[in-house]
Amino acid sequence: MTRLIGDGLENPANARALIAAAEMFSVRCGFRDGRGLPLGLSTVDTAELLGAPLVAVDNAPGAESVYRAAPVRGAASVVVGNERRGIRPDLLRAATRTVQIPMPGRGVNTLNVATAAAVALYYLLGAAGRRVVRGPRPESQRPGVLLAAPGDHVEAGSSLRSAAAFGWPSVAVEDRDKVWFGTPRPVRAEGRAAARSHRNPLRVVPAPGGPDPAYTRIVVCSPGADGPPVHRADLTGAGTLLVIPDTGWEPPPGAEFARVDAPGAAGRYRFVTGIVLAEAARQLGPRPTGAAPRPPRRGLSYGSGLVLDAPADADVVEPWELLRY
Ligand SMILES: C[S@@+](CC[C@H](N)C(=O)[O-])C[C@H]1O[C@@H](n2cnc3c(N)ncnc32)[C@H](O)[C@@H]1O
Repeated sequence: MTRLIGDGLENPANARALIAAAEMFSVRCGFRDGRGLPLGLSTVDTAELLGAPLVAVDNAPGAESVYRAAPVRGAASVVVGNERRGIRPDLLRAATRTVQIPMPGRGVNTLNVATAAAVALYYLLGAAGRRVVRGPRPESQRPGVLLAAPGDHVEAGSSLRSAAAFGWPSVAVEDRDKVWFGTPRPVRAEGRAAARSHRNPLRVVPAPGGPDPAYTRIVVCSPGADGPPVHRADLTGAGTLLVIPDTGWEPPPGAEFARVDAPGAAGRYRFVTGIVLAEAARQLGPRPTGAAPRPPRRGLSYGSGLVLDAPADADVVEPWELLRY
């Protein structure tokens, strides 16, 4: 049976989240070198790991795209790595294959480790019958994103990190539980120098009234949604808004629905947003080599430009700060 392995994780909250990611896909979870992690976690040693096929999930040079990777079957270990250093070289060398989640964003080039695990398992364990990717001009088709009623600051922060990493310049948040706006965010001393560059920030736009009425199509994506799986639904297109609700959010009349399907638990909010945004980015297609994202049109425009152009009360979040989540 496939299992998920955390190699050298150092943050106990990430270790707990990794267990939740394994539960979402009904696989076991183990840790190699759990120094600093809570006692009682299931640990594995190197010799045991090397005895079965290893799939390394890391953005290492030469790694294949998870969107094109063959499914994982049987007694394989899917490995993710340390929050700062990634998977250690001995396991990377021993891996049967290495897969990466393409990160078209500027400024943030990794996901939270548990989010990366959930996204990788989504594609490695299934997501059969995927929609074909769109054409060569993906930016004009990029949908807007509304995080609706997130119930937890860290889950919201990890979701925003994913949005930046998958190339969204702005995200709207309906923050009824006040988990993001007005909440003091953790600040890291080492981030201050990086912050001075002010390059590629994510604009987080308050949306107290819910979806902007200028969007012509709303697709609500959640684990229990009554609709096709997200990898078969059309998640892109000018005028499309993807709404990812957390708790107690009422969809507007006329909304379409798409389901984030997994065999186990519903999963944490950061996993659901990570999978939806990964899938929307997959459907948009790769950024043409060397091309910078097209700047949003001025005035009223569709897609993520809609929220970009909007308000002066947007919260500008720097990439270094998103790496906290
Ligand atoms: C935050 S990353 C490690 C940072 C990494 N060494 C770097 O700076 O490039 C922690 C772990 O999350 C997983 N991860 C995060 N983003 C990923 C991506 N885009 N593709 C594959 N794995 C990713 C990998 O397992 C990685 O070892």
